Order: sequence, then structure tokens, then C-alpha cells
Amino acid sequence: MCGIVGYTGPKPAFAFLIDGLKRLEYRGYDSAGISLLNGDSVLTVKSIGKVVNLEAKRPTGERKMHTGIAHTRWATHGIPSERNAHPHTDEKGQFAVVHNGIIENHADLRKRLEAAGHKFASDTDSEVIPHLIEEFYNGDLAEAVAAALRQISGTYGIAVISSKDPDTIITARLGSPIVIGLGKDANMVASDVTALVTYTRDVIYLNDGEMAILTPSKVELRTLANVPVQRQASQVSWEISADGKGAYDHYMLKEIYEQPESVENSIRGRLNFKAANAVLSGLNLTPREMAQINRIVVAACGSSFHAGLVGSYYFEDISGIPASVEQAAEFRYRNPIIEPNTLVLPISQSGETADTLAAVREAVNKGAIVASLCNVVGSTIARESGRGIYLHAGPEISVASTKAFTCQVTVLLMLALLLGRNRRLNHEWGENLVREIEAIPDLLREVLKQAPRIEQIAKATAHANDLFYIGRGCLYPAALEGALKLKEISYVHAEGYHAAELKHGPIALLEPSVPVVALCNNIPGKDKMLGNIQECCARKAPIIAVVSGDDDCCDKFTDSIIRVPESSRFVAPITTVVALQIFAYYFARERGCEIDQPRNLAKSVTVE
Ligand code: G6P
Repeated sequence: MCGIVGYTGPKPAFAFLIDGLKRLEYRGYDSAGISLLNGDSVLTVKSIGKVVNLEAKRPTGERKMHTGIAHTRWATHGIPSERNAHPHTDEKGQFAVVHNGIIENHADLRKRLEAAGHKFASDTDSEVIPHLIEEFYNGDLAEAVAAALRQISGTYGIAVISSKDPDTIITARLGSPIVIGLGKDANMVASDVTALVTYTRDVIYLNDGEMAILTPSKVELRTLANVPVQRQASQVSWEISADGKGAYDHYMLKEIYEQPESVENSIRGRLNFKAANAVLSGLNLTPREMAQINRIVVAACGSSFHAGLVGSYYFEDISGIPASVEQAAEFRYRNPIIEPNTLVLPISQSGETADTLAAVREAVNKGAIVASLCNVVGSTIARESGRGIYLHAGPEISVASTKAFTCQVTVLLMLALLLGRNRRLNHEWGENLVREIEAIPDLLREVLKQAPRIEQIAKATAHANDLFYIGRGCLYPAALEGALKLKEISYVHAEGYHAAELKHGPIALLEPSVPVVALCNNIPGKDKMLGNIQECCARKAPIIAVVSGDDDCCDKFTDSIIRVPESSRFVAPITTVVALQIFAYYFARERGCEIDQPRNLAKSVTVE
């Protein structure tokens, strides 16, 4: 969502902050701003649109300014505009604040502050913070920030500088991530470790209710109630390649092509051939504890939700455990039945999605066994779940998720294997699954070889303004994910449907201008799928068929055939979704869309 970055140290802060904002731009990108300490005043520049627009407003003399904070915004309260862009300041411009999250009581606070004579300059909820700090300031910036934050209900990750406190940044969090980077004679802050890793590997994650005071030589942690906090730094192991997209035109394409390696990394060290089993030590469950699990509930959003849907097929089919998947936003509001032997699985690439985090907290409170599947090491969901399985997909920059999805599904398959071997799955079945999982990276390499043909089909289809994606069994969630990819990056209406459900309404929409992407891989249910394709053909809808290997089952319906390698029903969603990612990419590209940073979307949604 929005991104925060801050720096205090010997170097000019502007260049550091611009670089940090560019690295965070994938999270939110409708406007950006920077505040720098300039002698005894605060200098603020803002711009709408991309960070390059802000970079062009480089203030004169910035090389002498060594402390600053910056923000890239994804609008919630107030339209994208310079006046709504962060940092926000009090009227005199003494306190500058960048804020992620939502202040739920902002209207009341604003009314009260306006009655006391404060004049507001924006439509944002965030602007109440600098005004509150001004009210409470009594010579100690950290105390004033803590007092201001105690007035707030809602969520925040903030960074604050003040003309009254040279070389100092105050940062705090409640429900919105903050990470502090420790450098040589410099300290940094960001909402996402991506902004820091080219400068330091030593980081401290703030917990909810904590704040920190940063100067170039020191970082002091305390709670909002002023209780000192001691925390060891953690080491970040992520490599963010210096050349960014490398030879690829977009991060999305790069990440699509990284999938054989990212899945290999997810699998590495986690398959035991002799035992015909998976080894997932982060789960930290004894065989007896595993055997007691009587239900699995997945909670997730977006692509992670679709991965969870695939997983629910695995858990029932392979492990023999009843499984359901909840949209994380519904989880705590519908009062789910969670018992001590329920395994709750939050799935989140970022590990910061607000709704998924809320589901984790609800599940922990209800006494469930909670194990997360996250990509970002040390993220809030990973930490609060207490146990889990990291994806090891590497950083995913494109807003539309690709490699995180395939790694999530691969990890879910390993988890189903582990739980299955713990109960009804015999050695031979286990061995088969181990072999299938091990083969996934090579199967993905085969899919990638089909990219030129998929590109042709995508270009020939790119005039369409409505598409349906249909699938059955494990390929039903793959249809949902394929449709989501297309709408995210091409802004074209695409709907994923269960192939059998199509005739219960949506078939009314089919006509020659509405293509149907039919997932007709060689898995159980294919015969029925062929029947469903006939139904679409009878309405003259053009068909794009995904089939296994050389299968000619769809030749009579269409020339637009995407071939993915033969595989079991368990692996088919992984290979098929990669083909659909490639289709969506070239479809969007043909339409001249933005791709890596689609309009209105954010990589990590930290508001509910
Ligand atoms: C946003 C992103 C999606 C992602 C979803 C869940 O909507 O644009 O790509 O699938 O959030 O994110 P998470 O980090 O929890 O997997």
C-alpha cells in the first residue's frame, strides 16, 4: 500500500529517500513527497504521479540536508493530489509526518483540533497527527509523538521529523509495518525491508505499540507507555538484484520466468525420498499433534486466497482432512467455528495484509493451531502466527502475484503430503507425490517454452472486452486465478467460473465477442469439461483451450490451444496458472497497459 522511508546520517538524504521510494513504488503510486531537515526548518516537496516526478523537484541545497522522511501514497482518504500527498505538517511546518494505515477517529480529532484553532490543508485522515504532535509538544519530540498516538484509534506506521530536533526521526507502529535499518553512522526506517536491503542487512522490526528514536549514532526502542525495549537486530537474507528487471521489460515477466528457480527454492531441503515425505520444520508440530488436527481453515486474500482454494482440494484428497477457505476479510466477522484441533493457515505473500493479519489474531485468540505461509521473512503475519512455512520465492515486485502463487501452491502440496503421510497415505503414494513435486520446476520450464505460442494467442484475443475462464476440480481455482491476472493488468473484464456453473446464468452472456478460456487438462472431469466446451461453442463463443501435451481433444473446437505438460491433477493448477500468467501478460502488453503497477492496485493491502 503506501510506502514509508526515512534516513538520518552523513549522506545527503534526498538521494537515499528517492531511491527508497522507487523501491517501494510497487506498493502504492499515486503521489509522493519528501520532507528534509534544513537547518532550523523543514523543507517539503510533493508531486502527484510517479516518484520520477518528485525526483525532478530536487530542492536546491539538498546535499546539505542529512535527515528526512518520504512517502509514496495509495489514496484512501482524499483524492490523489499534491495537497493530499504526504508528508503532512502542522500549520507552522515544524512537524512533518508520513503515515500508513487508517485513523478511524480522524473526523472527531479534526473537529476538536479545528475548534482549538488548527487549520488543515488536506482531506486526509493522516493530517491530524502533526497537529496533535504540535498540541502536545513540550520540548520532547518522542513524548509529543507518543501522546499524539495515544489519541488515535485505528492503525498506523509513522515516521516524524521536526525542526525542533535535529538529526532525529521518530517512528512508531500499530498494525502497519515498520522496520529499522542499522547502518554505519546512519540509521534508516521503512515500511518494507525492500527499501533498505541495498544499504544494510541489519534490521529491527517494530512490534505493535512500540516506537523508536533514531539518530545517526543510536536507535532507542520503547513502548508508547515509555517502557524501554531491548531487541536484537535480525539479518535480512534477500538479494535484490542491482539491475532490477535485468533484460526483461517488466518485473512481472521476470518473475514469471523465475518460477522454475523459485519453486526449486521452495522445495529445497524439504523432500525426504527415503521417508517418502516432506520435511517442514517451521511447522513445529509433533506427529501426535498433526494426527489430532481435525479441520483445516485457510484465510487469505487475492491470489493467496486462490492458492488456498487449490490447497483445500489437496488437504481433502491427499491428507483426508476436511478443509475450507475463508476470505480473510470475512474470517473474524462471521464468527468462524475454530476449535483447539483446527489448523488455521493464513497465506500471505507480503505477510502484512491487514485482513489476513486480523484473521491470524482471531485464530490465535480462539486457541487454534496457527501456521502461516508467508514469503517475507520476519513479516507481521509470520511472526504473530508463531509457526509456519516460508515460501522462499524471493522478492516479488510486480503488483500482480506470479511466483508467490506457484510457490504457495507447491508448499501447500508438500504440507498435504506431510499431513497425509501422518495418516492415510501409504509409502508408495507418498513416493509418487515426492516425485511429482520434485518434477515441478522442469514442468514449468516446459511451460515457459510455450511462451511464443501463448503470446500469439494472447495478441489475437486482445481486442476482447469480456472473457470467461472455466475449470473443474483443482483447475477451478486456476480459472479464478487466470481471470484475476487478466483483469489486474489489462483492465478487461474477466470472470473465473466453475465450468458446470456457467450454465446457471453466465452462459447468457456468451456470444462471438466473448472468448472462453477452458482448462481442459488431462485430469479427472475432462470428459465433462469437453461437454461444457460444447455448450460454449453452441453459443459461438471463441474457445482458448489449455490441454495436456499433444492431446487433440480440443482440436475440433479451436485453433487457439495452449499446451502444458502432462501431469497429475495436483500439479496441473501450477503449470496451468503459469500459462495463464503468460497469456495475461501479453494480452495486457498488446493493449498498451502499465503491467507492473496497474491502476488502483497496491502490492500489499494494509487497510481493511
Ligand atoms: C493485493 C495484491 C495481490 C495479492 C493480495 C494478497 O491485492 O495486489 O496480488 O494477492 O493483495 O496479498 P498477500 O501479500 O496477503 O498475499
